[in-house]
Amino acid sequence: MSSSKNAHGIDTDCLTLTRYVLAEQRKFPKASGDLTQLLSAMLTAIKAVSSAVRKAGIAQLFGIAGATNVQGEEVKKLDVIANEVFINMLKSSFTTCLLVSEENENVIEVEIERQGKYIVCFDPLDGSSNIDCLVSIGTIFAILRKDHEGPPTIKDALQSGRNIVAAGYALYGSATAVVLSTGDEVNSFMLDPAIGEFILTQRNIQIKPRGKIFSVNEGYAKFWDPAMKEYVENKKYPKTGKPYGARYIGSMVADVHRTLLYGGIFMYPATSETPKGKLRLLYECNPMAYIIEKAGGLASTGIMPILDIVPESIHQRAPIFLGSKEDVEDVIALYKKHQQ
Ligand code: AHM
Ligand code: MG
Repeated sequence: MSSSKNAHGIDTDCLTLTRYVLAEQRKFPKASGDLTQLLSAMLTAIKAVSSAVRKAGIAQLFGIAGATNVQGEEVKKLDVIANEVFINMLKSSFTTCLLVSEENENVIEVEIERQGKYIVCFDPLDGSSNIDCLVSIGTIFAILRKDHEGPPTIKDALQSGRNIVAAGYALYGSATAVVLSTGDEVNSFMLDPAIGEFILTQRNIQIKPRGKIFSVNEGYAKFWDPAMKEYVENKKYPKTGKPYGARYIGSMVADVHRTLLYGGIFMYPATSETPKGKLRLLYECNPMAYIIEKAGGLASTGIMPILDIVPESIHQRAPIFLGSKEDVEDVIALYKKHQQ
């Protein structure tokens, strides 16, 4: 891409996320523009949440005298605020019919006058234990399509990840980034706070076939199954070559983003205490598996691809191993070996 920066260092041809999405839509002359509208609502919500995340510490100081802020209103927790922002923006985009949020026990049905054909499954603010200590947190989302004319039912949300139309995440880290795939490539955009726009910074991200990092909460090693124990042992005490480095932030978005960019493997396995793992299929595992697969990596439960799971309930969990193809294949091979 030729640089369009002028003598003042100002990029006069900034490829924004909105522009990118519009250009993608042009590839499908029959497209209604609904997905573009939905993604644009999503981006506005992400900007609002990013701004709230950046102000959270200060807002808390104002509320320190009690659970109320200067206006005498109750101080809402950041994850509750984020959830409200996403629900309001998605409903008012006139493109969605069902919403599944980590924060809501039941599926949210959009009022009939505002209904469109898309279903959005999202975790408005993932990594909540990291909010108060200012460690990176994120938003994760997957978009599905209702493929019939009738009213939406919960079944429309319980589609396998193979039916995802678009998925991505926002990372509220040292900068705010959005990683998105609408089916072909995976692209990364960085928020430029000066203009309030996401600018394309990495196009067609491809994950390394093998990495040098493993990422897991090793505190639960006591509860791991033999395949998991053997895998991590091999990474720490390899018979040949160097041991892998260990990195674990405890925020899925941050751990997955690092895995996407640097390679390696992220794991949240089943344990004897949590036999289905911890992470939720619809709005944590599926969108991340979609992004990683589109970038040339793999995402598996150890036994089967994450995206092949047919969900039975909206908050169901799944064990997950995702990242560089060869690293995930090593885990799958160990699960095969231990199954016999
Ligand atoms: P949350 O949805 O309650 O925030 O929990 C999800 C988070 C993920 O971001 C992260 O990968 C995982 O929980 C960390 O869990 P643990 O503290 O058990 O290692
Ligand atoms: Mg979560």
